[in-house]
Amino acid sequence: MARARSVYRCTECGHDHPKWAGRCEGCGEWNTVAEEPIAVGAGPSANRTVRARGSAGGPRPSRLREIAQSPLERWRTGLDEFDFVLGGGVVPGSMTLIGGEPGIGKSTLLLQAAARLEAAGRSVLYASGEESPDQLRLRAERLREDAGAVHVLGETSLERIVGAATALHADVVVIDSIQTVYTEMLESAPGNVGQVRECSGQLMRFAKESGTAVVVVGHVTKGGGIAGPKTLEHIVDTVLYFEGEATLDYRMLRATKNRFGSVDELGVFTMTGEGLVPVPNPSAVFLAARADGISGSAVTALMEGTRPVLVEVQALAARSGYGTPQRVATGLDPKRLAVLLAVLERRAETSFADLDVFVQATAGVRLAEPGADLAVAAALVSSLYNRPAPADVIFVGEVGLGGEIRPSAAVERRVAEAARLGFRRVFGSARNSIKVPGMQLVPLEHIGQLVRALAA
Ligand code: TYD
Ligand code: MG
Repeated sequence: MARARSVYRCTECGHDHPKWAGRCEGCGEWNTVAEEPIAVGAGPSANRTVRARGSAGGPRPSRLREIAQSPLERWRTGLDEFDFVLGGGVVPGSMTLIGGEPGIGKSTLLLQAAARLEAAGRSVLYASGEESPDQLRLRAERLREDAGAVHVLGETSLERIVGAATALHADVVVIDSIQTVYTEMLESAPGNVGQVRECSGQLMRFAKESGTAVVVVGHVTKGGGIAGPKTLEHIVDTVLYFEGEATLDYRMLRATKNRFGSVDELGVFTMTGEGLVPVPNPSAVFLAARADGISGSAVTALMEGTRPVLVEVQALAARSGYGTPQRVATGLDPKRLAVLLAVLERRAETSFADLDVFVQATAGVRLAEPGADLAVAAALVSSLYNRPAPADVIFVGEVGLGGEIRPSAAVERRVAEAARLGFRRVFGSARNSIKVPGMQLVPLEHIGQLVRALAA
């Protein structure tokens, strides 16, 4: 039998199929199985079994306690929010993937980081298959940082990029983007699933063997994930997402995976005419546009990783035209909005039945945690009765299906952040105990109490 030159592999889960299939046997997704050429000399060989090597040449396992503790080195860029999200700086020998929509500022961020690392004495190679060195120079001219010392390379061959990095003894290599590079080991086009995976694997080995920190840019698909196989995110040490509202200048950097730091940390930047500028105090910025005395507005404190961040939730309940009333949620799961409306109706005798309801979190923040429930409910009730919530109040708590108010994690830290920004009272679960000077808890057991307090 002739040896297969290609394999049919799922682009989502990586499951191999002997022939093409409309549906992946591994994960059940449709239209994800694609033909992929096999790398020369790679691929599993079915008829070979593992044979033990003699103890002479083989590696010797060590006990964990025998492994010397080496302090983790980090190269700080001085771009504070970037260092913070990474867990303190770039780790030598690590591989980081940064994903985001086109135009969000990935290349700008990495060129700024590259310039700063150069200034700190690290050599950086910026390889771009997206832009020519000339375009990179134009971008660099806009920046506040002096990127003049950064080595750039307009190249898409992985072998040549790695060759250049080795010749340069680069400490850091930036690949912009993983979808534009290709390895000569495969015949397929750049961006192909096999190429992305193989290039990532080779880059990871290069990072580990040479101690070079590798940072790759990845494009984001319509679904919001990084284009290419999921295995890409499994391979790398750290996955960052760079996101923001196209119309706003805020950019948010989040770690969704980090072998060298905590996940879900949020770093905030603003995009200016001179590149990205870290925002050291996101709460103040997110609340800057808030107008006092307007109904339908409530402030909450979200935990973004280890940091509390204050955000405003806005709601508008308006008489609906004909047909089914609309429910529109921006930055909030529409299902969560439906649950909160149902709880308000059934447990607190409010009625949104013939009203259109719109809810949004300001500045493009996502209300992903249940601690924001109470603020969403407060904004809804405030809009319904057209009564502004008091200006010195924040709302923190989860709303249960019975209308009960439950405490949220890390309430003290959230409340302390609110106190710092001039808030004086927190509406929250009666089961909280708060010992933040200058802050008073307004204890709530039930959603009905919130409605009575706000409608009065
Ligand atoms: P870019 O870094 O090219 O995004 P990505 O690599 O994620 O596709 O960002 C491009 C956008 O940022 C573009 O619309 C121009 C804008 N920009 C600024 O507003 N100020 C600047 O200093 C720079 C360099 C870019
Ligand atoms: Mg780019």
